[in-house]
Amino acid sequence: MKRRNFIQAAALSGVGVALNPFNSSANKKRVESIRGTFSETRNKVLIYTKTDIEPARIFHITDTHLSIDDERGKKYREFSKRMAKGYNVNSHFRTNEKLSAKESFELTLNLAKEQKVDFLALTGDIFSFPSEAAVEWAFQKLTDTGIPFAYIAGNHDWHYEGMQGSEKELRSIWTAKRLKIMYQGNNPLFATYKFRGVRYVCIDNSTYEIEPDQLNFFNEQVKSNEPMILLIHIPLFMPGRPIGFGCANPEWGAKTDKNFEIERRERWPEKGHSKTTYRFYDEVFNAPNLLTVLAGHTHQQSLDIKNGVPQFVSAHNATAYYADIRISTLPKYSK
Ligand SMILES: [Fe+2]
Repeated sequence: MKRRNFIQAAALSGVGVALNPFNSSANKKRVESIRGTFSETRNKVLIYTKTDIEPARIFHITDTHLSIDDERGKKYREFSKRMAKGYNVNSHFRTNEKLSAKESFELTLNLAKEQKVDFLALTGDIFSFPSEAAVEWAFQKLTDTGIPFAYIAGNHDWHYEGMQGSEKELRSIWTAKRLKIMYQGNNPLFATYKFRGVRYVCIDNSTYEIEPDQLNFFNEQVKSNEPMILLIHIPLFMPGRPIGFGCANPEWGAKTDKNFEIERRERWPEKGHSKTTYRFYDEVFNAPNLLTVLAGHTHQQSLDIKNGVPQFVSAHNATAYYADIRISTLPKYSK
């Protein structure tokens, strides 16, 4: 008997086969989702869960592209000069007023403080390169708000253009050397911040790829069955969307890599994504306790829904954009 037939037969005859409900995507569908509803009006998002949680208001901030630098960055200018020229003058996303990335970040944090926002979710490219001065400045600004925050890196946060080394090597060096304080003692590649009954699960996909340890970590979070929000930099593949939706995108690879020369980095691989990255993609969209995915990278606001799971991508905070997200329990599930 083929394995599939055996399982079906066993289920029909009531034979006690202990199936791990998290073993495969097919089985996961049997676990009832704890997602409620969600809605979006401009930059305001409402997310409801069927789990009883304390309501929270969060700001999603991504792609500020700070390039503050000082004497310490002098010997790295060769690697930072191109990105340092970017995002110094931006148009405010609502008023069109001109402002620098630094002013945008400050404006957003001041607003968060003023409005008594509960949590900040930072999904990468907060920095245009790993400048000590920029990281220290941003960390101080964040600390001054008194608001807890989670941070995960984007492809620019740790990247010095033209520096020798693979993407993985450079990420490992510069997240440890420069971005360390942003992780608040957590692993730079994967971490969970628990806040008011929700797990904010950070997975670094800034190389576009997912590592086996990250997949295992994500699966552990799913098993908790507590509501969770996934924070990543590069949006997950959605059919019809551009290559910027590049994590687990079947088109991703050497042929579609148009920027490796400009960004002076390793070209995306000929063979495309690893199996682990595709596996992660399936696990994300079959996770019954995943309320939403929050991402950045494209610098454009968008919403896609796959298998009932929304993926909100926020526009770049260089324009002072932020997503104002309220998470709460659907009234009939409140205790
Ligand atoms: Fe960016």
